[in-house]
Amino acid sequence: MAPDAADRTVDVVRAGVAYRCRPVHAVHAADAADATDVLALYESLGPDSRLRRFGQPVPRYDRGLRRALTELDRGPVWLARDRLGSCVGEARVVASRREPCSHLAVTVADAVQGRGLGPALARLAVADAIRLGLAPVVVTIAADNRPALRLAARHGIELRWDDGLLSGRVRLRRGPVRAA
Ligand SMILES: CC(C)(COP(=O)(O)OP(=O)(O)OC[C@H]1O[C@@H](n2cnc3c(N)ncnc32)[C@H](O)[C@@H]1OP(=O)(O)O)[C@@H](O)C(=O)NCCC(=O)NCCS
Repeated sequence: MAPDAADRTVDVVRAGVAYRCRPVHAVHAADAADATDVLALYESLGPDSRLRRFGQPVPRYDRGLRRALTELDRGPVWLARDRLGSCVGEARVVASRREPCSHLAVTVADAVQGRGLGPALARLAVADAIRLGLAPVVVTIAADNRPALRLAARHGIELRWDDGLLSGRVRLRRGPVRAA
């Protein structure tokens, strides 16, 4: 069977870092015009992903959370889209208003989790954040979020307990292209 456009591999090269993502059609930095599509990604998430992403059940997004999710100007945000243009993944680094650091959050649509898209997007967002002077970049993960913990372990992020959660600094390691 001929490969569908959705299965095309996308090579992303930025700041000397190469990454290969599949099955996405395009990967790009977000701007304000992407807010509606980002919200649609969050609306598409099932209860497990919402619980993992927010650390608590989120049956619906209230006005405050919608506003926070569509604030795409507090740090770099990278998006992945499928061939129909739907947003299927997001990584954002948000500058803290209280501390001299920024926070990484990654969200991948349920249907394409486990294919390397999250780390690919995270790498791009973190590279931009470092370039913009937003380091240190910190990621915080709930102790029962196994996919995120595996991702952190695979990428050499050392996590420590911090107020009931696991938290660690994200460093960018240069490496060869990884096929997702
Ligand atoms: C955590 C997350 C961003 C990882 O992105 P991803 O594109 O799935 O990352 P990977 O493909 O590299 O998978 C990471 C690991 O988790 C596993 N995994 C991913 N999704 C999984 C799922 N739904 N169920 C079980 N395991 C899963 C993968 O097999 C992989 O394990 P391995 O390294 O032992 O092979 C993504 O699962 C997600 O969006 N989860 C919901 C939101 C969330 O938890 N965000 C992180 C908190 S900021």
